[in-house]
Amino acid sequence: MDLRMDQIEIKRNGDTVSRVVFAPAVSGFAGIIRTLGRVFMVYDEAVERYAVEVKGHCPNVAGNFVLHNVSEESKTVRTADNICRWLLEAGADRNSSVLAVGGGIVSDMAGFAASIYKRGIRASYLPTTLLAQVDAAIGGKTGVNLDSYKNIIGTFHQPEYTFVCPEVLESLPDRVFADGLTEMLKTFIIDNGIHGDRVERMMTAVSMQARCRMETEFSALVAEAASVKAGVVTRDELEGGERRKLNLGHTFAHAIEHCANGTISHGEAVAIGLSMAAHLSESLGIARSGTAERIDGCLDTCGLPKKCPFPVAMLEDAMRKDKKSEDDKVHFILVRDIGDVVERLMDVSEAMDILAGHCGTER
Ligand code: GLY
Repeated sequence: MDLRMDQIEIKRNGDTVSRVVFAPAVSGFAGIIRTLGRVFMVYDEAVERYAVEVKGHCPNVAGNFVLHNVSEESKTVRTADNICRWLLEAGADRNSSVLAVGGGIVSDMAGFAASIYKRGIRASYLPTTLLAQVDAAIGGKTGVNLDSYKNIIGTFHQPEYTFVCPEVLESLPDRVFADGLTEMLKTFIIDNGIHGDRVERMMTAVSMQARCRMETEFSALVAEAASVKAGVVTRDELEGGERRKLNLGHTFAHAIEHCANGTISHGEAVAIGLSMAAHLSESLGIARSGTAERIDGCLDTCGLPKKCPFPVAMLEDAMRKDKKSEDDKVHFILVRDIGDVVERLMDVSEAMDILAGHCGTER
């Protein structure tokens, strides 16, 4: 990995459709943002200082839509509808750009609104959480929730730019930072790099340094995670095959989030899902022995949970309603080894029978 790399491209049929750009601080993106035409900024009030900074550097910001109390509950069609109404009132046309400033909920929603407003206008993202930097804000999935079912309504709409900088990580609460560590770990379990050392380097960074998030090595790992995702999306943008690997741990996670009603974050749910996927893989004889223990150890190092607190029957019901379930079967992503995952279509009840001991109350 070239540590000086400051841009990653996502391609479709050889043409660049999306760029992930790196800089040390938000101000480093002003030059590009100034080229985006009239920019309509949608931002989370919790990160207002970055929105103010962008506005200060970029006179082409034509208006702001402030999102208050951002949560999975507010990630709805109604909010996307409000963003579209505002775009219309503020005079956004087909040459305008939406710039989302915030975490994954903000980029998912603002990206969704941009993808349907006047049949689609450009969107760019300035992700302010680690989770959004390595996953949510890259790859073009947009969406909103339907009741407590996650991302049931959505589109594929590639962001023109995703702006990634360590500055925004500095003041992230530890729990929110840990959410992002989950998606990084997931990415490196899928692709541990040509030297097979990404997970180990990540664990060294996390365990040695409370402030690892501001270190050069950590920024390099963020860029590597972004680059893995960009590569997968370039090869399989619409999730016909390889992209499903990025759902490692997520089928369990979405069911856990549904049962948790907002008490467990997405990253924590994915952490539990990673552990469940690893244990399922070992029980099926797919994983190299010790893989689940190794993944559980990584989750411990990151201060993330491993055990599902909900009864297996509750989880099973939610999994059947997942948008990816087909005839009560789900494409589970299983782990053969760190850096080597495989897809298997399995009956939900077969998987959950095996995992009963990993859940809150046995059948
Ligand atoms: N978050 C998984 C994906 O973008 O495909």
